[in-house]
Amino acid sequence: MLILGLETSCDETSLALVEYKAGRFFVRKNLVASQIPIHQKYGGVVPEVAARNHVVNIVPLLREVLPFKKKINTIAVTSGPGLVTSLLVGVETARTLAWQWHKPLIAINHLEGHIYANWLDKDTLPTFPAVALIISGGHTELLLIKNHLQYRLIGQTRDDAAGECFDKAGKIMGMPYPGGPALAKLAQSGNPKAVAFPRPMLDKSNFPARGGQASGLDFSFSGLKTSILYHCQKNPPVNEQAKKDICASFQQAIIDVVVAKTVAAVKKYKVKTLLLGGGVAANQELQKQLADKMTKEVPQTMFAPLNPTYCGDNAAMIAVAGYFHASKKDFTPWQKIDVNPNWEL
Ligand code: KG4
Ligand code: ZN
Repeated sequence: MLILGLETSCDETSLALVEYKAGRFFVRKNLVASQIPIHQKYGGVVPEVAARNHVVNIVPLLREVLPFKKKINTIAVTSGPGLVTSLLVGVETARTLAWQWHKPLIAINHLEGHIYANWLDKDTLPTFPAVALIISGGHTELLLIKNHLQYRLIGQTRDDAAGECFDKAGKIMGMPYPGGPALAKLAQSGNPKAVAFPRPMLDKSNFPARGGQASGLDFSFSGLKTSILYHCQKNPPVNEQAKKDICASFQQAIIDVVVAKTVAAVKKYKVKTLLLGGGVAANQELQKQLADKMTKEVPQTMFAPLNPTYCGDNAAMIAVAGYFHASKKDFTPWQKIDVNPNWEL
């Protein structure tokens, strides 16, 4: 079965062809046109500019998949959450292809795509029940997944996403958008104990309950942004090493909170697998420290590292999610598909 995936929810235009064969997913094409250089001069993604560039970028990518038209069985497209005008470019393109080619169409939740990135290029496919940590520029969520397509939100950020926090810290330290990867690079040769940044919401008893019940699995990152701003105003880094030390200390504060809560969720729900997804999951130090703690405390739970290529936004992950919806005949007629910018899993 060959699935065409389309992804345009934020600032990457992506088209992919993924084949499911003999129990494995093979990425035949994963084309990604990034708009990062365009948005860098604004210091962040400008929605109107992003949408216009998706229109420009999608046509050359489409040309590359056209030769496979006859072999494609299903079309899967991100229809939310994301920037509404960006989402529309992917959804309208997919709708047109589905109508013109007479192929079934599937609406995919972007976060679901991040989860199914874990099925790409794997010899052993993940098993359920699972906990998924989605950690990106727009989301920081822990989900309990009992079986395919059955999601329950068990923890989330109450303010900013972890990626947003990395990006803001990068900006404060004079790095171009997105600050996350640049900050992570400097952190490699810094001292993570140099600055004592707070570990927000790590102490269960120290934060208000959500919905009447303290789950202990929620996050908060906005205070950390303020903390690094005040630190840099009071103690501007005097040299490159001081800058690296701030980066390492800041990154470690986020890692400590994320690792502790993720492992707590794995223990609480006694799951077989831990899944990772989202741009921040590309952070190698985060993956390493998470793997170490998992091995030490829950060795029976499977945790396979996620290839950085599939952490950020890409259409291959959307195609895999499409396969599982197609198995359940969960199609949307091209006349009815719509965007849903606030779609919650
Ligand atoms: O999943 P993604 O590509 O887009 C969203 O759906 O948001 O995630 C982008 C985010 C950005 O905030 C970026 O700074 C962050 O992922 N990011 C990283 C790293 N690589 C990307 N953050 C920390 N360390 C990294 N290595
Ligand atoms: Zn994403």
